[in-house]
Amino acid sequence: MSLKKEISRRRTFAIISHPDAGKTTLTEKLLLYGGAIQVAGAVKSNKIRKTATSDWMEIERQRGISVATSVMGFEYRDLMINILDTPGHQDFAEDTFRTLTAVDSVIVVIDVAKGVEPQTEKLVKVCRMRNTPIIVFINKLDRPGKDAFDLLDEIEQKLNLKVTPLSWPINMGQFFKGVYNIFDRSLYLFEPSKQYIEEGISFSDINQPELKKYIGDDADMLREELHLAEGVYPTFAVDDYLSGAICPVFFGSALNNFGVKELLDCFIRIAPTPIGREAEERHVDPAEEAFSGFVFKIHANMDPNHRDRIAFVRIVSGRFERNKPYYHIRLGRNLKFSNPTAFMAQKKSVVDEAFPGDIVGLYDAGNFKIGDTLTEGEMLHYKGIPSFSPELFRYVENADPMKSKQLAKGLEQLTDEGVAQLFTGRATGRKIIGTVGALQFEVIQHRLLHEYGASCRYEPIQLYKTAWITSSNKAMLEDFKMRKSSFLAYDKEKRDVFLADSPYALQTAQEKYPDIRFHFTSEF
Ligand code: G4P
Repeated sequence: MSLKKEISRRRTFAIISHPDAGKTTLTEKLLLYGGAIQVAGAVKSNKIRKTATSDWMEIERQRGISVATSVMGFEYRDLMINILDTPGHQDFAEDTFRTLTAVDSVIVVIDVAKGVEPQTEKLVKVCRMRNTPIIVFINKLDRPGKDAFDLLDEIEQKLNLKVTPLSWPINMGQFFKGVYNIFDRSLYLFEPSKQYIEEGISFSDINQPELKKYIGDDADMLREELHLAEGVYPTFAVDDYLSGAICPVFFGSALNNFGVKELLDCFIRIAPTPIGREAEERHVDPAEEAFSGFVFKIHANMDPNHRDRIAFVRIVSGRFERNKPYYHIRLGRNLKFSNPTAFMAQKKSVVDEAFPGDIVGLYDAGNFKIGDTLTEGEMLHYKGIPSFSPELFRYVENADPMKSKQLAKGLEQLTDEGVAQLFTGRATGRKIIGTVGALQFEVIQHRLLHEYGASCRYEPIQLYKTAWITSSNKAMLEDFKMRKSSFLAYDKEKRDVFLADSPYALQTAQEKYPDIRFHFTSEF
């Protein structure tokens, strides 16, 4: 098959939601349609629940699951669909942000009763920054919830999205009758816990009197609401969706397998095929013959006897081939991969080739960092995988003097994986760990001990924010560095970082040194 054909067969996306909205359930139903799994319950939730924060076995178990469910590929109607999983727990938000750089579109799941929740807001914001096409699935219609118009209003306001419903719910909760599919003008009747694939009843004109036969007195309400909706929401156009200007909305119940097939059928018709990516040097098109890709996630091996890790590479362009040498831009040398892994549902298998939109897992003994680019030789640096300025900080101290080498290596590798960020105080040489969630500190301590045999202790540090600093005014930068020397650190790339101990300190520094730029993401 030609490269262009392979590209046109692929759809790579993520499902995002606030925890408990139904992401895992929806993923599972989608896999059932693809025949990738046979029974419900096969997809284990990849969420690290709040209650599990001090349960190490639980975290280890969850990490195992999260490798298995990192990427779930399946075939549906001759298409290759890759679902990239994202951790629901907010302490792992950075992981999710990075995963979003590797997809071409997203499905946002919203609980009909809870509406737009904080984590949904954060994640959609990241999608909006890149104009990622979004489909919204409003879930749990079998339960009482918010009125459809109110909910769509809330989505428009809180998520700053323009929406257009492609299906419309007929009542809800115990009176839920089904949905009218505006996209293919047909009626889908709800039956709880149905095990077969529903067929729609064609209804090109909802004013036909037979409608009453199917949904009784709700027919009048449906007609009225659809009439109103037609006036309020724009007509759906695929191009508007692809440019991120408009988001189609579906209603259903993932648990009852209702509305899922329509979602999937619409998705495969409208969702984008793999799109290119911006490198610092130029835009790269997926149909270019030369292979290129970037690492967006690194996962440590769970087996303590094998110290290797899996680097997840999103293929941007060309054909990736097993055992062919590829150029690792940051290291400046060629690497070959004898066991590249593809992920189909929950199985991993070695692949001989892969195409744009695919994710391959490369076994790695420590060569990769998040954001690394691989090519056939061209100097390209893919953009868009920034680290954000962390929010929580601690000094990390060696608790076992005999193991300082192990500690240094462990910290280096764990931070390459993106678990946290590591800074070194310029004046003191003390190591500072910065994270976006409290859970990471415990994960690091645990993993240092179990994977590297090193123990560490944390000490508090009064720190509000870190900012990378740059300036074209060399004299001002030098002056700043001299005066603030005790508030300076290096990151792992030896770049200068300002340690602001309070919002006030940051503000005054910004005012006093107008030629210095303070960056809160690592890409500047
Ligand atoms: P998440 O991955 O977004 O965190 O959500 P998940 O799919 O785990 O779903 C969260 C809870 O909501 C689960 O119940 C799940 O069964 C339920 N759920 C999902 N879709 C629907 C739906 O359409 N209708 C109803 N009524 N419930 C739904 P749980 O009790 O927390 O877990 P479980 O014991 O059922 O797994």
